[in-house]
Amino acid sequence: MQSPPASVALPTKNPATKSADGPTILALESSCDDTGAAVIRAGRVLVNRTAGQEMHARYGGVVPELASRAHNQHIVPLVLTALAEAGVAPEELDAVAVTRGPGLLGSLLVGTSFAKAYAAGLGVPVIGVNHMRAHVLAHFIEEPRPPFPFLCLTVSGGHTQLVVVRAPADFELLGQTMDDAVGEAFDKAAKLLGLPYPGGPALDRLAQTAQPGAFADAFRVNDQPGFEFSFSGIKTQILYFLRDQTKLNPAFVEENRPALAAAIQQALVAALLRKLRRAVRETGIRHVAVAGGVAANSGLRAALAATAAQDGWLGLYIPAFEHCTDNAAMVAMSAHFQFLAGDVGDGFLSPEPRLGV
Ligand code: KG4
Ligand code: ZN
Repeated sequence: MQSPPASVALPTKNPATKSADGPTILALESSCDDTGAAVIRAGRVLVNRTAGQEMHARYGGVVPELASRAHNQHIVPLVLTALAEAGVAPEELDAVAVTRGPGLLGSLLVGTSFAKAYAAGLGVPVIGVNHMRAHVLAHFIEEPRPPFPFLCLTVSGGHTQLVVVRAPADFELLGQTMDDAVGEAFDKAAKLLGLPYPGGPALDRLAQTAQPGAFADAFRVNDQPGFEFSFSGIKTQILYFLRDQTKLNPAFVEENRPALAAAIQQALVAALLRKLRRAVRETGIRHVAVAGGVAANSGLRAALAATAAQDGWLGLYIPAFEHCTDNAAMVAMSAHFQFLAGDVGDGFLSPEPRLGV
C-alpha cells in the first residue's frame, strides 16, 4: 500500500512527550482470550485491567470466533475504565500501543483496529508490540529486574520459548516448541484426568497433595536436540497408559488421580529444566527469567529454585502472576522501550498472527 500524501500523513515519531516525566502510553492486548488495557507513564504502570472470557471453558479450548466477539464487546469499556482509573485524559497520551502478533487473527484485528483508530483520532503514533517480547519485558514492570544479558523461558498455553535477551530490542531465539505448548500439555493431561478446562492450575493443585509414587517413571517428554521442545508425545503416552490401566481397573483414574497428576507434572517440569540448564551451560548466562502463565506452577517454581541453588545461577526472576498471564501491562512496558527508541509505527499496522520473536 502507498503512503498517504504528506498533508494527511499520520504521525510517526514523537520523541517529545506531553508530560515532563516521560511518555504516557495506553496499551492494549487482545491476542488470545483476554482483553487487556493498561496505562504506563515514564515506565511506571499506572493501571492494568484485564477482562477474561469464561465462555471458552464449555468448549474445552479457546473458540477464535467467540474470542473476537468478546474482545469487540470489552475493548471500549475497558479502555475508558483504565484511563479513568489512571487519572489520565486521552489528550495526555503520547502514543497508543497494541499487540500486533503472534495470536489469533480475529482477536488481533479487534485490538489493532481500535488502537489505530483511537491513535489517529488523538493524532498520536500507534506502537505495534510483539506479544512474545512483551511476555519477556514483563520482567521490567517491577523489581527485581534482570540485568542484561539474561535467559528467558516463556511458558504458557500458547507458547514455549527459550530466548537470550541482550537489550530491550535485542532477542535471540534459542529454541521453541515444535508442536504443543507446555501449558497446552498441562491442559490436555488435565482433561485426560477428568479435570475441567483450563486444567493446568487444577492439575498443579492435585499434584501438590501427592507423590508420583508408582508412576514416577510412567511418563517422559522425549528430549529434542538443541533447544527445541516437543510436548505432543506425552499426551499420547498418558492417553494409552490410562486406557490400558482403566481396562484392568475401571476406577483407576478415580483412585490414583493425585499421584498421576504429580507424575505428569514431574515429567513436564523435568523437560523444561533440562533445556534451561543446557542453555545456562552453553551460553554462560546465569541470570534466568521465566514468564507466561505456567510460571505459576508450583512444581516448576520448586525445581527452578532448587536448580538455581545447585547450579549457582546468579539470579532467578519470575514476575507477579498478573504479569505472567496475558496482560496489557507487559505490552505497555514494551511500548515504553519502543517509544524511547523511536520505534513507533506509521498507522499502517497490521496483525501478524505468526510473528516470531
Ligand atoms: O499466559 P497464559 O495466561 O495464556 C496464554 O498466553 O496461553 O497461560 C495460560 C496457561 C494455561 O495453559 C494454563 O493451564 C497454564 O497457563 N497454567 C498452569 C498453571 N497456571 C496456569 N499450568 C500449570 N500449573 C499452573 N499452576
Ligand atoms: Zn501470551
